[in-house]
Amino acid sequence: MAEPNIESILNEKRLFAPSPEFAQQSRFKSSEDYEALYQQAAADPAAFWAELAEKELHWFKKWDTVLDWQPPFAKWFVGGKTNISYNCLDRHLTTWRRNKAALIWEGESGESRTLTYAQLHREVCQIANVLKNLGVKKGDRVGIYMPMVPEAAIAMLACARIGAPHTVIFGGFSAEALKDRLLDAEAKVVITADGGFRKDKVVPLKPAVDQALANNGVPSVENVLVVQRTKEDVLMEPGRDHWWHERQAEASADCPAEEMDSEDMLFILYTSGTTGKPKGVVHTTGGYNLYTHITFQWTFDIKDTDVYWCTADVGWITGHSYIVYGPLSNGATSLMYEGVPRPSNPGCFWDVVQKYGVNIFYTAPTAIRAFIKMGEELPNARDLSSLRLLGTVGEPINPEAWMWYHRVIGGGRCPIVDTWWQTETGGFMITPLPGAISTKPGSATRPFPGILADVVDLEGNPVADNEGGYLVVKHPWPSMMRTVYGNDERYRRTYWEHIPPKDGQYVYFAGDGARRDEDGYFWVMGRVDDVINVSGHRLGTMEIESALVSHPAVAEAAVVGRKDDLKGEDVFAFVTLEGNCKPSDELKEELKRHVVKEIGAIARPGEIRFADALPKTRSGKIIRRFLRNLASGEEVAGDASTMEDQSVLEKLREGA
Ligand code: WTA
Repeated sequence: MAEPNIESILNEKRLFAPSPEFAQQSRFKSSEDYEALYQQAAADPAAFWAELAEKELHWFKKWDTVLDWQPPFAKWFVGGKTNISYNCLDRHLTTWRRNKAALIWEGESGESRTLTYAQLHREVCQIANVLKNLGVKKGDRVGIYMPMVPEAAIAMLACARIGAPHTVIFGGFSAEALKDRLLDAEAKVVITADGGFRKDKVVPLKPAVDQALANNGVPSVENVLVVQRTKEDVLMEPGRDHWWHERQAEASADCPAEEMDSEDMLFILYTSGTTGKPKGVVHTTGGYNLYTHITFQWTFDIKDTDVYWCTADVGWITGHSYIVYGPLSNGATSLMYEGVPRPSNPGCFWDVVQKYGVNIFYTAPTAIRAFIKMGEELPNARDLSSLRLLGTVGEPINPEAWMWYHRVIGGGRCPIVDTWWQTETGGFMITPLPGAISTKPGSATRPFPGILADVVDLEGNPVADNEGGYLVVKHPWPSMMRTVYGNDERYRRTYWEHIPPKDGQYVYFAGDGARRDEDGYFWVMGRVDDVINVSGHRLGTMEIESALVSHPAVAEAAVVGRKDDLKGEDVFAFVTLEGNCKPSDELKEELKRHVVKEIGAIARPGEIRFADALPKTRSGKIIRRFLRNLASGEEVAGDASTMEDQSVLEKLREGA
């Protein structure tokens, strides 16, 4: 397990209080407000959540039991009946929000579309009926493999409406990765598009679906629904493939929301872990709805007049919780942008802020570092005065990037909410409430009310202030993952037994290193397991190793993260070759392409180094610590005497 590196941020002492104007107009205005709320929630978390669930959500039937906790399995609002699509749509239709913008969409090449709550409701109902007509029933899984278009959100809400759990697969994943996920989820229908636009190019999606399904590759899939986006020619297999617009035109717009049990599965989202294939993180209905609703409302201190923009892709948890469900449940206006900054339009983000008068902007540190490189001229040339609040997510933000974000984008007046959370947690866990908590560059600050976070050692004992340790959560919360799809044991082992339970007290192990300072602020220091974070994308080193080893020339592979100024971390692979294969630059390129084919472009190794052998312990385990040092060009730290063959390190260094 890697040791968290805490030296670099121990010296950060700057403190930024929210301006009096900001605090005065927000829900929580002072640290006393926060403390009181935190204490109240901590004293009786179940009562705290129950009160909010009653006040903030619509229930067809109220729950019987707030929390049923049979560690490590939790059930929230047991016996309650609700529907997240109802909470995101129908309940706004009887208010003035009926004709408020729910989604504002901006396409890469400048086209745009706005869907009011009434319009979005209508389209969701139609697509829900299309799915029903294709034989989808409550409980059937639906794969969604889409570009960033409104139909992606419509598809998710349509699934939720009829109780069919969705599994969204990021459009950047390859056909192979798509197939793995569809197989694991046993999806009955796949919703996709002909393709999408990315960086001025067409990215084909339907061909990848065809490839995944070829030769009955995913036997459970019966139908494919295809959105026409790029108008490229695609093959449509009669009987299996259907155009979205044709089916939608025939479908009724009358589709009452299914009364779902609070604990019915809402979605599966695959994410990378230490071992084996990506795991299907399971989220359920009521608790997830409440938690994303309230964290969105309080953390972004949302106002009914706000235009809110999260730059994530709906293929990730951030898109699920904070483009679709959290904002719409609150009746907010959520902006969806198809594009990313690209050479032909490096200032596009600031154009979008200016065009729509965005008030709240939520992005990732890797994007901020890219903006810094592009220069202040781009944002300075646009009117960003509408911005009131900024957010960041995905990886620890380095203080320099934080300061730039604050000064250049926020004009020095916008608080920054640094939100620490995970696919598994469903929603924000450690984050400032922006009117109440002063911020420190690089710290996610304090836990959200109701979240009992701590920093402990591997035995579960709390560590002293400012000492490095492991980030844990000591009480269940409503949007916690319920299990790994089809694998309760893996769920138990990975998250709840890593730190051995004491006296029946289970703690959730997040996989991140952290420290807490003397003010109770948390500083998250990155993964302590074999997960690497490339541009905010979570990748398991093991997945990339399996991809490499599946190439005939590769005997053995070890992948580590190497620090990267822009991406945070980059993929660095050490590879030993089969006996008769010769190292060459061509082979390196071929192996990189192979990883892209097996997983997707996000996993493409930045560097591959060929080696005769890898450093191993006497029992045959690869010593990754040494490889991490080698990849970063550092001295190999620590004791090499446990190594089987001392000459291996020498040779690896020479190979540089
Ligand atoms: C990292 C993304 C520091 C962390 C929502 C976590 C962060 C992993 C932050 C989850 C943050 C996310 N500060 N690190 N504000 N936010 N992380 O599942 O290592 O894609 O465990 O969820 O991202 O990544 P995931």
